[in-house]
Amino acid sequence: MNFEIEVNNRTLPAHKGDTILATLNKNGIKVPTLCNLKGLSPTGACRICVVEVEGIQNLVTSCSYPVRDGMKIQTHSPRVVKARKTLVELLLSNHPDDCLYCERNGNCELQDLSVELNIRERRISGKKTRHRLDLSSPSVVRDPAKCILCGRCVRTCDEIQSVATLEFLNRGSNTIVGTTMNRDLNFSSCIACGQCVMVCPTGALHEHSNLDDIQDALNNKSHKVVLQLGPAVTVSLAEEFGLKSGKDINGLLVAALRKIGFDFVFDTSFSADLTIMESVAELLERFKAKENLPMISSCCPAWVKYAEQFYPDLLPLLSTCKSPQQMMGSIIKNYFAQNKGLKSSEIFSVSVMPCLAKKFEAQRPEMTSKGLSDVDLVLSTRELAKLIRLYGIDMQAIEPQLADNPFGTRSSAGKLFASSGGTAESIARTLYNSVTNKDMLSPKINEFRSGSELKKVDIKVGEETFKFIVANGLTELKELLQSVRSGEVDAHYIEVMACKGGCVNGGGQPFGANDKDVKQRAKTIFELDDVETIKCAHKNPMILNLYQDFLEKPNGEKSKKLLHVNYSQRDVLL
Ligand code: SF4
Ligand code: SF4
Ligand code: FES
Repeated sequence: MNFEIEVNNRTLPAHKGDTILATLNKNGIKVPTLCNLKGLSPTGACRICVVEVEGIQNLVTSCSYPVRDGMKIQTHSPRVVKARKTLVELLLSNHPDDCLYCERNGNCELQDLSVELNIRERRISGKKTRHRLDLSSPSVVRDPAKCILCGRCVRTCDEIQSVATLEFLNRGSNTIVGTTMNRDLNFSSCIACGQCVMVCPTGALHEHSNLDDIQDALNNKSHKVVLQLGPAVTVSLAEEFGLKSGKDINGLLVAALRKIGFDFVFDTSFSADLTIMESVAELLERFKAKENLPMISSCCPAWVKYAEQFYPDLLPLLSTCKSPQQMMGSIIKNYFAQNKGLKSSEIFSVSVMPCLAKKFEAQRPEMTSKGLSDVDLVLSTRELAKLIRLYGIDMQAIEPQLADNPFGTRSSAGKLFASSGGTAESIARTLYNSVTNKDMLSPKINEFRSGSELKKVDIKVGEETFKFIVANGLTELKELLQSVRSGEVDAHYIEVMACKGGCVNGGGQPFGANDKDVKQRAKTIFELDDVETIKCAHKNPMILNLYQDFLEKPNGEKSKKLLHVNYSQRDVLL
């Protein structure tokens, strides 16, 4: 039902069931918010969004108050502005004064609000509580001193990620956000997805930065520093350098990284092609033996940790393929190094990923060979942007360059790994070829690319129909996994990505991107797939060469040793 309301003496349309805030936003009126976040249940915790409603004595929180017919609202009356200012001053009263050194300096919603409300002096002084910095996780740092208790992280971890690691602990002025029994993150059920970092308005949750480590590695001349760029990274940071949001800047990044001093630059989409080849061979083996089906993807380390903790009984169904990051790390140290006449230990292997769980994955004891980690250090997309600025590279004034050989060619299928459904779509293409010896007439499968949380796609392959399911984020996963557990699910392959939309929306991506920006990243990947000629992993000549020259055959003895891994139950305090 539609009706009219009056806002700041203007008549505006409104819709029954909307909140005041949603109505204001639809009409282009901006009211500041802190705890509110699209897609999460409103809590009215911070009160920054208050407005004055005629006939109601107290100011109301617009994010949690329903709009009513004929309401008369003032969004910026002196009383409202004063209240907001006092609320922010109270938040600042016990906030650490180290903004200049904070991870979020220049990118902090609390800082922005202070500027917006013209807060220029400390009028309220509160007792600064001392809190221990939680540095235990290789992915996420927790700094409770900077927490403003907005609860965005708690709701994201629970309502979106279905993990529920974070909760409010203690009461009153002692309240903090922490994990069960206030254990450090690394000992909790946290799957390191980083989605809480993406929503935290301050520096209370941020990534475990490896920027200092990478500079040390670059300055150490006793090894070659080799870098791989994740498929989603190249379409996710153009706007950081004043270029069009979502633009693919792969060539510019390769050039910038060489200028910074990386000895070799590779594209992880190449090893995504390798993952496709290995996954298809593994799936067909299981299909023929009629065992361990449906095969469930294992490219997303946050999902793998989730399975280890909450669904250990389903671990035999997980693909044994390492993720593209780890496969690339392994072939760099075990094939590329030898080709260059180097010892594996003379290579320092770095990856840039859109994901914080990749930092966790690289440190897993399983991800090693001969005592050496496949990947020595992982940077997030955000850290890459910082590194490029640190080295003073002008991205608008460099010429694009190609990635290094022997992994310099990728298929567009490998690039599709960046988006939800992309792994399944790429596997379907090569599976079709492996079974029929022909290529799909139309390899683009739109059903895999939809934004639905659960996508079911049947692909006719010769005489068989292969059934694929894609879990886009973890929200709808529980029900699906229950049906897998009970044997009711009708599928051969299930792709799971912990972040909605896939890696383009990962926890290591630049702050401030909206839904449109994230969709544009995926759109760019799909456009590349439309125009490029090598659309399938099995058509990548460098992949074929790698098998001929070194690996011999997919899922063969060498591959199993270097590119496959098994997972086991992980006990955590829930
Ligand atoms: S990283 Fe993910 S799982 Fe861990 S606390 Fe944050 S949202 Fe929850
Ligand atoms: S850690 Fe960040 S997101 Fe979570 S309650 Fe504190 S300020 Fe809000
Ligand atoms: S944004 Fe409305 S109460 Fe926090």
